[in-house]
Amino acid sequence: MSVSYRAVQWNAAKKAYDRRLIVVIALYFAVFFLAASVAFETSPLILAMRACGTAAIALLIFILSIGPLARFSPRFSPLLYNRRHLGVTMFLLAFAHAALATLWYHGFGVIDPLTSILESGAAFEGAAQFPFQPLGLAALVILFAMAATSHDFWLRNLSPRVWKLLHLGVYVAFALLVAHVAFGVLQGAIWPGFAWMLAAAAAWIVALHIAAGVKEWRADRVRRALAADGWVRVGEVERIVEETTEGRAKAVVIDDCRKIALYRENGAFSAISGVCAHQGGPLGEGKIIDGCVTCPWHGYQYIASKGQSPPPFFEKIPTYELRIEGRTLYVHPQAKPPGTPVPPCKIAGLEGSPS
Ligand code: HEM
Ligand code: FES
Repeated sequence: MSVSYRAVQWNAAKKAYDRRLIVVIALYFAVFFLAASVAFETSPLILAMRACGTAAIALLIFILSIGPLARFSPRFSPLLYNRRHLGVTMFLLAFAHAALATLWYHGFGVIDPLTSILESGAAFEGAAQFPFQPLGLAALVILFAMAATSHDFWLRNLSPRVWKLLHLGVYVAFALLVAHVAFGVLQGAIWPGFAWMLAAAAAWIVALHIAAGVKEWRADRVRRALAADGWVRVGEVERIVEETTEGRAKAVVIDDCRKIALYRENGAFSAISGVCAHQGGPLGEGKIIDGCVTCPWHGYQYIASKGQSPPPFFEKIPTYELRIEGRTLYVHPQAKPPGTPVPPCKIAGLEGSPS
């Protein structure tokens, strides 16, 4: 493998997030078993299958809502940064549902379970008899491909474009699942009330995406105006947060050769020249020690927001203005004179997310 990568670290915030996710799912299972065992007199295995299927689809609807919601309010950004954990959990629940359904409905016959699923409803006589189980299987295959490639390793190896294209498959999977449930209801295999809830959820997802699309289109106009004023796009805040560790730099190159050191500290970005005032050391490879950017070559220090060394030292370096518009970080390429203070650029909604 020739491509090197740095995995996003599993930190305390992510662990706390995962613990909360497990508690919510456990609560859902407890409530579902209590309510469903009163409403339907059926075996615990069927109840477990239904609990897993409904939990997976509820989680999928939640996941699909996070992106557009984060465009409306930065309060949803921490959910966005941890969305992959939700995705993998959702796949595991969907897999458990599919495994239990396969065991229960296809596990004890004379033909093998896969053929049995694919042939289920083969003799259909009209739209209402459309085989709903192969639709679930097709959705599961897509969800598997996404869960298996969710790690950063694949993002880098497949290239962001191919990875994104693959992960847009979530919408195909969602459409297949809506059909899975709708045809299941028509064939009397699924409780009709659930189909109505899913129809309302599907309408919510469509409306939310249209509203977010309109907002994004308006933000695009602002972005074009910024570019006209000379601001340079650094990248999506979400990705930069994943790529930078709190207190460590990321080297950014603008105008093809000018190096800028971008720092993330206390939920805010600062940008200074990437060239140390001592002997030109790479400040983009340094880290923050005792609140000061520290050059990796001989340890000269600078306060990032002031562009100067802490007293009693007097070295100064140029600073840069940063701006976040929507979910994109921009830098103004015009360097401020050495030692000019520039307030750090706050990352809204970052509290409690990866460091
Ligand atoms: C091999 C793949 C799959 C098979 C064979 C399958 C089979 C079934 C069957 C037989 C039912 C009706 C069961 C009953 O309620 O008695 C059902 C319902 C359902 N399925 Fe699937 N399914 C598959 C994949 C999926 C996936 C990937 C999801 C994703 C979330 C899903 C979500 C649901 C939901 C929400 C219901 C309605 C609740 C329920 O009745 O369990 N299914 N499925
Ligand atoms: S070059 Fe930075 S401390 Fe010497």
